Amino acid sequence: MTSPPVNVFEFEALARAAIDPMTWDYYASGANDELTLRRNRSAWEEVALHYRVMVDVSQRDLSTTVLGHRISLPVCAAPTAFHQLAHPDGELATARAVGDADSLMILSSLSNTAVEDVVAATSAPVFFQLYVYRDRGATEALVRRVEAAGCKALVVTVDAPLLGRRERDVRNRFHLPEGFAVRNLQAAGYGAVDERQGASGLAAYFADLLDPALSWKDIAWLQSLTDLPVVVKGVIRADDARRARDAGAAGIVVSNHGGRQLDTSPGTIDVLPRIADAVGGDVELLIDGGVRRGVDVVKALAWGASAVLLGRPILWGLGAGGREGVARVFELLRDELDLAMALCGCPSVAHITRDLVQPG
Ligand code: FNR
Ligand code: LAC
Repeated sequence: MTSPPVNVFEFEALARAAIDPMTWDYYASGANDELTLRRNRSAWEEVALHYRVMVDVSQRDLSTTVLGHRISLPVCAAPTAFHQLAHPDGELATARAVGDADSLMILSSLSNTAVEDVVAATSAPVFFQLYVYRDRGATEALVRRVEAAGCKALVVTVDAPLLGRRERDVRNRFHLPEGFAVRNLQAAGYGAVDERQGASGLAAYFADLLDPALSWKDIAWLQSLTDLPVVVKGVIRADDARRARDAGAAGIVVSNHGGRQLDTSPGTIDVLPRIADAVGGDVELLIDGGVRRGVDVVKALAWGASAVLLGRPILWGLGAGGREGVARVFELLRDELDLAMALCGCPSVAHITRDLVQPG
């Protein structure tokens, strides 16, 4: 890195130069016109922070907990697929950097590294993001494997019965090149994401293999397989949040999959208040989509989330600088959050309350 990035956006430019074009398009894409992709970002920008003054902020504590796991800041790694396409060390580099940051990682089902190796590589708690395959036997075997590997929760992604249409991936016929695999599914025979004529190979993989019949009753099925807490990822409506809670979810990730699934869906920070009002006292809320600044984290917590997740920024750090790059992305967010808390009159995350975004 020539002049080190002073913010997360500058990592995007560095990563773009370092990553091959097919991968770059896959990482960057949103669905269709990418309206939700942009809205995820502009929605944060629209929220104003009504800062508090004359509070002693000489000592600041950014730490918090997620499902009982203590982390040094309320910023965690979202599950994103195929980290070896960004850097040869792939998910191992990411996991180590998340450990360096004393944070928490959600590992994608579609990692290029086996879950056991990822958990072994890091001091951070690892949650496992589950895609439910039509082959329920293979799904069950995966859940048991994840539990044995030492993952601390299952994060079931519910906004992808089919993959959203990312036009750049269609154009590029996105696929996993020779030598890369979906390692966690290799034993089941679902390790390859092949090239398809006139289509995204990953969209075809989803259509062929993942279960579009998934419904709320399957949360109970998952709970019958494991003692791990279940988190539901991909909710944007208060009624769905209530259904998730009633189905026994311990947490909800308010997410539209980074604008990659249903285009024109709302920006995530715009829907968090309603969801927090509906279920905030009952389940833990996480949020992702367009989080790029420390002030975004303050806004998320003020509206009732316990932490935010970073998707693309992790991939940018990884592509630009491997483990150090990802660690640096966390440090940038930490420094920005620390300053934002000081300027908001919040010596700890417990002081980040709703009046900061909704003054009386
Ligand atoms: C994702 N996301 C995702 N989600 C999931 O549940 N399982 C997955 O395998 C993936 N894979 C994936 C790959 C890439 C390249 C991206 C960009 C995203 C969605 C991810 O968890 C998260 O919801 C968004 O990335 C958050 O938005 P930002 O931070 O990228 O704007
Ligand atoms: C994606 C899938 C893998 O967004 O979740 O590409």
